[in-house]
Amino acid sequence: MKIFLDTANLESIRKFNDMGLLDGITTNPSLMFKEGGNPKDAMEEITKIIKGDVSLEVVSTEYSGMMEEGKRLRQYGENVVVKVPMTPDGLKACKSFSSEGIPVNVTLIFSANQALLAAKAGAKYVSPFIGRLDDIGQDGMKLIEDIRKIFDHKHYEIKTQILVASVRHPVHVVDAAKIGADVVTLPPAVLDKMMLHPLTKIGLDNFLADWDKLKSGNPDIQI
Ligand code: E4P
Repeated sequence: MKIFLDTANLESIRKFNDMGLLDGITTNPSLMFKEGGNPKDAMEEITKIIKGDVSLEVVSTEYSGMMEEGKRLRQYGENVVVKVPMTPDGLKACKSFSSEGIPVNVTLIFSANQALLAAKAGAKYVSPFIGRLDDIGQDGMKLIEDIRKIFDHKHYEIKTQILVASVRHPVHVVDAAKIGADVVTLPPAVLDKMMLHPLTKIGLDNFLADWDKLKSGNPDIQI
């Protein structure tokens, strides 16, 4: 399963990229707003740092505006995936972009039917928002299961990847991986939590304490 970071924060992107953890980035207008400044600078920098797919979202709601914006966004780099909303105009733009070989991420997916239509329109990625479904008392992960089942059906040849979005905690990640989601996009805080386990910390503290004891008998010892 690929891991994308769901942020426009350059510090986090550099931090996790240096660890070799990032296959790509997803952004949206809210994430850009959170960082402040001119989003153009962030988009330019992110597409330079990350070699994998970087989803940059259009803000037009009608087809021709989406097409213009998508083409402008693609100027940031060959790795730019144009992110369009799951609307009739978004699907039309998805069809046009994908026919021109421009990859598209269809965002704000909340049902299997929406995922099916986005795949039909040629999306490279569909982004089901599982956390927001959980928030309203629906089972977000069940949606991932349903989409996986449909996309894997032996009678179809769907190449669209399931990009699990709106991830809230590490359990979401394990569950998505068990289902066989293609990608999860994670807020930096979730990726931070995935690295931690109390027993790792206790174990390391003990190793270091024992090493100090060993050295106290012979200060010349070194690795
Ligand atoms: C996905 O591409 C979206 O940017 C994101 O995952 C939305 O998450 P949220 O529900 O935490 O805003």
